[in-house]
Amino acid sequence: MPFRARHLLGIEHLAPDEITTVLDLAERYVDLNRRTIKRTDVLAGMTQINMFFENSTRTQASFELAGKRLGADVMTMSVAQSSVKKGETLIDTAMTLNAMQPDLLVVRHSSSGAVNLLASKVNCAVLNAGDGRHEHPTQALLDALTIRRAKGRLHRLTVAICGDIAHSRVARSNLILLGKMENRIRLIAPPTLMPSGVSEFGCEVYDDMAEGLKDADVVMMLRLQKERMDGGFIPSEREYYHRYGLDAEKLAYAKPDAIVMHPGPMNRGVEIDGTLADDINRSVIQDQVEMGVAVRMACMELLARNLKAERGRVAAEAGA
Ligand code: NCD
Repeated sequence: MPFRARHLLGIEHLAPDEITTVLDLAERYVDLNRRTIKRTDVLAGMTQINMFFENSTRTQASFELAGKRLGADVMTMSVAQSSVKKGETLIDTAMTLNAMQPDLLVVRHSSSGAVNLLASKVNCAVLNAGDGRHEHPTQALLDALTIRRAKGRLHRLTVAICGDIAHSRVARSNLILLGKMENRIRLIAPPTLMPSGVSEFGCEVYDDMAEGLKDADVVMMLRLQKERMDGGFIPSEREYYHRYGLDAEKLAYAKPDAIVMHPGPMNRGVEIDGTLADDINRSVIQDQVEMGVAVRMACMELLARNLKAERGRVAAEAGA
């Protein structure tokens, strides 16, 4: 089971065999999570601290449950009541927590690159739970597991990623992962929501849903990230829904068995029709949430394993 990473900062740093290792291990946790007794002792005695500097519902809950099910002591720092509000810098906060000897630090931050910076300052394993528009690696891994289970494979699929691609770390991590696993990726967005330099991504680029969705196996919708917009990126939500909102009519351009995904939180009636989102024959949105806990358990187990091995080596060298 190859997994060499010291931190999980982005999909960019993972090789295809490491991605497969995470997904295979996560499969075992999917089974465990469906049992009544969900507890293992893989992280027993270890401390996990979650630092969320940006709002989160599912990712924060998912990391917290994942750590608890692995038997770790889990602490979620509430930024609203922390010294961050008194002007403490990210690095000072991280160094303070680092001095309390955590083993795993889960961080979400609104600035791209903040989590990488932090990882260079602490001596525990760091997991990126989303940094600005940069990466959200556990989201891409849980999406990959959801796709692999629904389609029976994770290669040679046509995946359409639609909506606010410019502001989305989910899109970025997904297109890196899906590219590494040799899938065909289509990006569909109005030109104002397409990232600059998109022609270098090696994806097919569309601004029309009918063309872009043709023959897609997977349709991944994205939220309009209004908190990252500083002006008029779309004419109106009504107009946006009309052109880019996924409903049964537009989904009919994709393959008849295409699955519908969304990382959440969803804006029903803006990027996706509510009835379609709830259609268990097409939508795997709830599966994504379920896979999230299993994937995070797998990532934390693998990082903890590497951390223990590293500490063992250091101790052996010191004793020699
Ligand atoms: C995503 C995020 O925070 O990047 N949500 C999530 O983690 N489930 C996507 C989003 O906020 O739209």
